[in-house]
Amino acid sequence: MFMEDIRHFAEAIAKEAGGILLSGFRAHDTQISYKSATDIVTNIDKESEEFLVAEVAKKFPRHDIIAEEGGERNSKSDLVWYIDPLDATNNFAHGIPFFCVSLGVFSRRLQKVVVGVVYDPVHNELFSAHHKGGAYLNGVPIHVSKIEHLIGSLLATGFPVNRSSECKDNLEEFSKLAPVSMGIRRIGSAALDLCYTACGRFDGYWEPELKPWDMAAGAVIVEEAGGTVTRYNGGLFVPEYPEIVATNGRIHEEVVRYIANS
Ligand code: IPD
Ligand code: CA
Ligand code: CA
Repeated sequence: MFMEDIRHFAEAIAKEAGGILLSGFRAHDTQISYKSATDIVTNIDKESEEFLVAEVAKKFPRHDIIAEEGGERNSKSDLVWYIDPLDATNNFAHGIPFFCVSLGVFSRRLQKVVVGVVYDPVHNELFSAHHKGGAYLNGVPIHVSKIEHLIGSLLATGFPVNRSSECKDNLEEFSKLAPVSMGIRRIGSAALDLCYTACGRFDGYWEPELKPWDMAAGAVIVEEAGGTVTRYNGGLFVPEYPEIVATNGRIHEEVVRYIANS
């Protein structure tokens, strides 16, 4: 099956899962439980994941699946689906209308994310891309911004939910970049931060301590929109390595210079 067909399938199931998210958004019977003191999950995360994992397994019985809430199938196949059934659970559980479904398909052979789909059901925005096929928002091609310098750039970032001392807290990077950029936003969804960078709303984004399901889809969407995606040191991005810097390409070196040694 071609990447484009996988993308269209992913778009269809992401939209259906978006309907599941909307059914629980600001609903009185949505149940919250705690994975740790600062990390929550809802029954809607689980319902969305169950649906997505079942659909992918039915359509592609040979593909591997790694999903945030535990859905997993690992046969070392070439293609692996990274599934975030609800990115930004914290926003969702607080009634803040910025969250999404994120589906990324990674090729172990190519060491590249080859399909990415992110769906924000509140704003009905479907971001998608496949390797060498361009990036789209609701079917219309999207491109990164043309801002040339960091000082005129609107950036985005996020802060890890894990408070343990082994985890980076991102405070040093934040305090270095705040004075040398136009501003920094923290909307609470890594997948949407990446998609907003892909369509030029943000000029760049970085975040440490992320999981592959947070980044995989958004990474290929940024690349296909003409942007650059790397690790903090400018090295090759792979979803299993827990950090990302994604920009319009023009400001990439400047951003990397500030965060590489933090
Ligand atoms: C979180 C969001 C957030 C990021 C956190 C992630 P979740 O995902 O992407 O923006 O800062 O690190 O864990 O847990 O809501 O799917
Ligand atoms: Ca996530
Ligand atoms: Ca999630």
